[in-house]
Amino acid sequence: MITLLRRCGVIALAALCWHAVALRASDVPYVPTSMNVVDAMLVLGGVGPDDYLIDLGSGDGRISIRAATRFGTRGMGVDLDDRLVRMALADARKQGVADKLVFEARNLFSTDISRATVVTTYLLQSINLQLRPLLFEQLKPGTRIVSHDFDFSDWSPDQKITIDVPDKPYGPPRSDIMLWVVPANMAGVWQWSLPGSAAYELRLEQKFQMLVGAAVAQGQPLRLGDARVKGDAVSFTLSGTADVQRYTGRIDGNRITGEVVLRSGERALPWRAERIKTGKINIGGL
Ligand SMILES: C[S@@+](CC[C@H](N)C(=O)[O-])C[C@H]1O[C@@H](n2cnc3c(N)ncnc32)[C@H](O)[C@@H]1O
Repeated sequence: MITLLRRCGVIALAALCWHAVALRASDVPYVPTSMNVVDAMLVLGGVGPDDYLIDLGSGDGRISIRAATRFGTRGMGVDLDDRLVRMALADARKQGVADKLVFEARNLFSTDISRATVVTTYLLQSINLQLRPLLFEQLKPGTRIVSHDFDFSDWSPDQKITIDVPDKPYGPPRSDIMLWVVPANMAGVWQWSLPGSAAYELRLEQKFQMLVGAAVAQGQPLRLGDARVKGDAVSFTLSGTADVQRYTGRIDGNRITGEVVLRSGERALPWRAERIKTGKINIGGL
């Protein structure tokens, strides 16, 4: 009997510990984003009626609720704090947008975010860093991530603004708002040819949205410049001895469709490239 009780005790303790880990204490204290910052975040993220916005660590739900009331945006908020989730649900009902929004008491790290077209965060940089691999794993290219005050370390934002926040609950009365656009994978070896011209090969390495590489055309090296990928949009220049070629296009899997201006002032020509070897995006470590 005593052995049985001991065994039950161990099982109960293990279950309790598991529960404590699953619903661990909040990694980030609750501090609400001031409403003028919420509005600026939605504008910077280009949030609209067709978006699905997920606020990770949603607090009282103000970001999702504002997007729903202002733009008709659908979405979800998750927070570890059950009390805040209940507040968010009550406010969504009060503001007549409960049919557009879901709020759940759950850990953001075990939340499926693949449906998002916009993700908002007001977490700490250390949490953002843990979140980074999940963002690249789950979000579609082109998804916007808007963060209040805390960045993603060496993943530089595509845009950053700073605004005055007279009612900020802590620190200096201003906030940074940053935007990242999840880049498509452009890494690897691409080939194309242009009418009446040479066959091109471009080898690219990609770190977040930054591209570096080298190109050759008929054995002649060309210099790669201004190479960037924003969502599924890619642009770069190739320069040899005299002219600079300007390429712009959209990536769809192993194909790019776009146009190229071979010499400044000339008409753009259609451009199609195929990837013959796929690389990996370097998203750094923790
Ligand atoms: C600084 S507040 C931001 C609240 C809201 N997004 C806003 O901007 O007003 C951070 C919120 O994240 C929640 N949080 C922290 N760690 C979390 C986790 N691992 N999973 C879900 N929520 C978390 C906290 O409970 C807190 O409400």
